[in-house]
Amino acid sequence: MTDLIVSPCNANEMEEVVRLLDQEFIYSRSRDISLARRFPNVFEHGGGSIVFVARSAGTIAGTIAVRRFTWHCQDREWQGAMIGSVFTKPQMRHQGIAARIMGEVKSYLSAERVDFGVLWTTIPELYAKSGWIPADTAVFGTAQGRPSHKSAGSIVNRRPLADVDTDALDRFRRQSCLDYVMRRKVDYQAIPLPASRVDVLLLEHDGGLQGYCLTGVAGSTAYVYEIVGDQQGFHLLWKSLVNDFDAIYINAHPSTQAHGWLSAAAAVSWCAQKLAMWLPVSKEAAEVDFNRWYVPYFDRM
Ligand SMILES: CC(C)(COP(=O)(O)OP(=O)(O)OC[C@H]1O[C@@H](n2cnc3c(N)ncnc32)[C@H](O)[C@@H]1OP(=O)(O)O)[C@@H](O)C(=O)NCCC(=O)NCCS
Repeated sequence: MTDLIVSPCNANEMEEVVRLLDQEFIYSRSRDISLARRFPNVFEHGGGSIVFVARSAGTIAGTIAVRRFTWHCQDREWQGAMIGSVFTKPQMRHQGIAARIMGEVKSYLSAERVDFGVLWTTIPELYAKSGWIPADTAVFGTAQGRPSHKSAGSIVNRRPLADVDTDALDRFRRQSCLDYVMRRKVDYQAIPLPASRVDVLLLEHDGGLQGYCLTGVAGSTAYVYEIVGDQQGFHLLWKSLVNDFDAIYINAHPSTQAHGWLSAAAAVSWCAQKLAMWLPVSKEAAEVDFNRWYVPYFDRM
């Protein structure tokens, strides 16, 4: 397509972009809650992300969202960029539009001195041609709950994430984890698909936080994003999940304490994920074994 112009979305195009993306990723897939509400860190003005738009003959033909983030490792910090909302209007597909926007995004990442890009996809063919490498050792767990109306008599307190002091929660997370994505306040407003809200199970003792479990909720299903803290308390967090939900899905990585504990002590069946692809941009990132890195589901878009 020769008349294609690709550049960052301007403020008065955002409404149309969100409408197109909601139609594709939300409403046509029997989901709800607009992407604008799910990911204010991507689609709200000041959220810190860029949505690239391809226009042809004055209309929007395709989009790609880029969310910059800092990946904190024990030895250094890396500048990363997540790619999402990769979309071409149905009537304009198979003309190289997505490939063209990917090319622009790649140039942007180099110009901005980003170290690496990461995305999650079920169609690796689309990205492999632009140099993206598949590497994913994450696992997805499935477990059954036994909802009970009886009080578990637990010291675990489940609250909507929106009602919690996320600064304190984040301090606890950064003290507990070795490698992590840096989160801003707005990042804690995310509602990952397909959840309709995010809750946090807090395990407190003598007024201090011992551990927490961040989970998306959709009806009687829990989507666990992370279990963090003192391993001694994991059984209480798990008991609370099992008592509250019919089905529990867990996003995890074998390197985490939570995965080790769940594998040993809970009835969870695990399967490999194989969704992540990475683009090394800086010279240093070319040396990284991306199989060792894991971006938690809560941080993705
Ligand atoms: C996926 C999508 C963005 C592709 O857009 P597009 O503009 O048609 O893609 P391109 O024409 O640039 O395709 C480039 C290459 O990617 C590969 N590709 C594209 N769509 C593909 C698909 N659905 N399955 C497998 N490979 C695909 C092909 O190898 C293609 O090269 P070819 O045309 O030489 O065969 C578009 O189909 C779409 O919006 N789908 C719905 C939303 C979605 O699934 N987004 C991806 C989320 S990860």
